[in-house]
Amino acid sequence: MSDATGPSTPSRKRSRWDIEEDITPQVDKPVPKRRTKSSAAAPNETPTPERVATPPVQSQSFIARPQPPHSRYVPPRTDHPSFTPSRSVYCYERLNSIEEGSYGVVFRARDKETGDIVALKKLKLEEEKHGFPITALREINSLMVCKHENVVGIREVVVGDTLTQVFIVMDFIEHDLKTLLSIMPSPFLQSEVKTLMLQLLAAVAHCHERWILHRDLKTSNLLMNNRGTIKVADFGLARRYGDPVGVGGLTQLVVTLWYRAPEILLGVTTYSTAVDMWSVGCIFAELLLNEPLFQAKGEIEMISMIFKLLGPPTSHSWADYHTMPLAKTITLPSPHPSQLRQKFPYITAAGLDLLSQLLAYNPDMRISAEEALKHPYFTESPLPKHPDLFGSFPSAAAGEKRRKPDSPSAPARVAEYKLLTEFD
Ligand SMILES: Nc1ncnc2c1ncn2[C@@H]1O[C@H](COP(=O)(O)OP(=O)(O)O)[C@@H](O)[C@H]1O
Ligand SMILES: [Mg+2]
Repeated sequence: MSDATGPSTPSRKRSRWDIEEDITPQVDKPVPKRRTKSSAAAPNETPTPERVATPPVQSQSFIARPQPPHSRYVPPRTDHPSFTPSRSVYCYERLNSIEEGSYGVVFRARDKETGDIVALKKLKLEEEKHGFPITALREINSLMVCKHENVVGIREVVVGDTLTQVFIVMDFIEHDLKTLLSIMPSPFLQSEVKTLMLQLLAAVAHCHERWILHRDLKTSNLLMNNRGTIKVADFGLARRYGDPVGVGGLTQLVVTLWYRAPEILLGVTTYSTAVDMWSVGCIFAELLLNEPLFQAKGEIEMISMIFKLLGPPTSHSWADYHTMPLAKTITLPSPHPSQLRQKFPYITAAGLDLLSQLLAYNPDMRISAEEALKHPYFTESPLPKHPDLFGSFPSAAAGEKRRKPDSPSAPARVAEYKLLTEFD
């Protein structure tokens, strides 16, 4: 909550929808009058030359000729996406807030018309002084472009009382992987890790195919429903790649530190899909370990943790290392081999191979999502578990709590264990 720092303009007011308990009075509000005049053209009517003041002599011959419905250089209106005004947030009944993240608040809500349970992400626009932020447009656009079984479904964008109240309406998904990992009594089984990884890779391959970089892949941005299906969410940092970029290149202020690729840490501004693949490698490791792989406090510590685990880069593992903008500011530790095997003693050789290809130093040699999907790790035993066979867990996002066991006498640690395994 921001402090009261003086009178605020109406557009900066918080939405009544997300603070008031009773929101029903708003529902039947008459639709505000649009500024359209009765004489305005119908939506798919092309402005005709009659609107332009033309001398009568010319207009005669003009009218005589058959008019094309639109300029022959512009595709017909039906080829554009249809533009309809956004619905109001009051079409939804607010149920509970799920989380206040870095860029927005997420609520669970019910569609008053259909009864569907949805998630509404309120975009943080309060501080905007330069119009609707490009990041919000990118988030909405990326979600629309990347529709896929393993990407969270966007339903619509709705608006609140003022211009700064814009909400993305998504399908509600019961868990995020970070919260789920923290409450699970034991890590996922190998067969489950494979299913989750295949789904994540399928989503990432789909985004990359559509020229979208996610740039913030991490467990809290991976949602999972109670039917074992992963949905990649939070496209708040996503952008198209392949377009010419400005003089400064791409921003380095992307990807949460623990999942950030070494090339970004070392200052490159022309990164690509490989940055997402590094994050996928960190997620893979986190699923196996049940805790994040690199838990660094700052960038320098992050780089040294990577060097410690994988061995410092060599001319073989990263020939271009010395051309990285920040390479000169870093003192490389003495050479030593990768410690991945020691860190993951139980994974098969194929699993370790996939992990080391995801965590390859050289972005050009890092495995792509498309290639990773075909990796032998996924076809060796144990095979990926069918998503339907995943256990379900109570959803923290839906405010569900674990039922306390009736027997009170068990020692604390055992009681806790029982509590956690109860829903297996
Ligand atoms: N569609 C959804 N269904 C259920 N929970 C969601 C949904 N989208 C987001 N969340 C929850 O809200 C959190 C923050 O959402 P996110 O889109 O990651 O916003 P931020 O940009 O603030 O990180 C997620 O980590 C997840 O717990
Ligand atoms: Mg997030």
